[in-house]
Amino acid sequence: MVILVTASPRRGSNSRILAERLLEEIGQEGIVFDLYKQNINFCIACNRCFENLRCFQEDDANRFFEYLERANLLIVASPVYFYGPPAPLKALIDRSQVYWYRKFILKEKLRKIKGIVVNTASGEDPKIFEPIEKITRVWLNSLNVKVEKYFKFDKLEEEWEVKRRKDYLMEVTLEGKKIRSLQTSRDR
Ligand SMILES: Cc1cc2nc3c(=O)[nH]c(=O)nc-3n(C[C@H](O)[C@H](O)[C@H](O)COP(=O)(O)O)c2cc1C
Repeated sequence: MVILVTASPRRGSNSRILAERLLEEIGQEGIVFDLYKQNINFCIACNRCFENLRCFQEDDANRFFEYLERANLLIVASPVYFYGPPAPLKALIDRSQVYWYRKFILKEKLRKIKGIVVNTASGEDPKIFEPIEKITRVWLNSLNVKVEKYFKFDKLEEEWEVKRRKDYLMEVTLEGKKIRSLQTSRDR
């Protein structure tokens, strides 16, 4: 199962359009977890998760972690907001603290899954992506998600704009086809 996490409030979200194209090409069953439709509270740094190995706040963050236990691929699609992730994605990242604790303090062998990230930004400088990439990679490493591909698409300002960017759409299409063919040869 594939989980696609989307982190844009826009109907014509460039990052989501690209990630959905990718998922379509992969051709596997997927769950879309739209962060702007979830109820995810902030981490309150109570550290209770270090004892319970689960956050005491029973909301959609815990639902996401349940999906994650069943997934073999996690796709994260997010715009860049002030060089970082949009607030709902940062809320989920902070709520993942229990995974960091399990992996790095308890040295638990967590199940490994694959990950792909799609970031979009309106600017042009490659440095735009440095902070969000660092944060996203640190987060995914805590979840024991191995990032196989990290897409950074710049110069996307307006909603739906990516529909005109055949080059960007082709990049994700090719990645999707590659994953599909690897999957097919493994199934044979
Ligand atoms: C609050 C906010 C902050 C943003 N900050 C940046 C930024 O720091 N750098 C940048 O290049 N684009 C920035 N953008 C533009 C978006 O990253 C860009 O339009 C992106 O393609 C939107 O992706 P989406 O269509 O999936 O929402 C910002 C947009 C908003 C609404």
